[in-house]
Amino acid sequence: MVKPIISPSILASDFANLGCQCKKVVDDGAEWLHIDVMDGHFVPNISFGAPIITSLRKVFPRDGPNPVFFDCHMMVADPERWVKDVAEAGGDGYTFHFEATNDPLKVIKTIKEHGLKVGVAVKPGTPVESLFPIIEHIDLGLVMTVEPGFGGQKFMPDMMPKVKLLREKYPHLNIQVDGGLGKETIDAAATAGANVIVAGTSVFKADIPKDVIDHLKSEVYK
Ligand code: DX5
Ligand code: ZN
Repeated sequence: MVKPIISPSILASDFANLGCQCKKVVDDGAEWLHIDVMDGHFVPNISFGAPIITSLRKVFPRDGPNPVFFDCHMMVADPERWVKDVAEAGGDGYTFHFEATNDPLKVIKTIKEHGLKVGVAVKPGTPVESLFPIIEHIDLGLVMTVEPGFGGQKFMPDMMPKVKLLREKYPHLNIQVDGGLGKETIDAAATAGANVIVAGTSVFKADIPKDVIDHLKSEVYK
């Protein structure tokens, strides 16, 4: 059985208080932190890059009591280019977009050479079957449930058949969903078979983030 993992997206945090807010959601039970890197090319938005990861790693040092897994979602046009920087900054997982490369195996090789876990993401318009030929080389498949680029968008329930198909074929794969996840949408995602839940707005903008994290987790455990 795959483990339920909650990965709050820091895109929805208050960047001026990033360290404190991340500490809080981790204390509240989040296993991972989802770090959305956007380059203004692959997506029509710019977020941040490796320097933020370096700063955040100082809050969760590798030799400290809780070296949280940094789940880096690379919405970038040239995924190979940033592997070294992200690895040196303290990333743990490197998820790139299938649509951003003609040679996913080459990107995967580079990611592994740098000691990072490999994730591959598909945008809403990309068939999940695209991942099948490379599945044995990856640690995580990300089915986007919004068009990548912005937080706070509406969850797309019509992506659930992709999750279901992936789960049926690969019972042991970490399957991540990202975009619009919260108390109202978790049931659909969990039922389809997702176990790694990204949640930005619903966690960071909640009055009591712990309630949301507990709820999301309990739905995946069901
Ligand atoms: C969208 C990002 C998401 C986003 C999720 O491009 O990949 O990780 O921050 O935010 P919410 O949970 O607010 O939809
Ligand atoms: Zn993301």
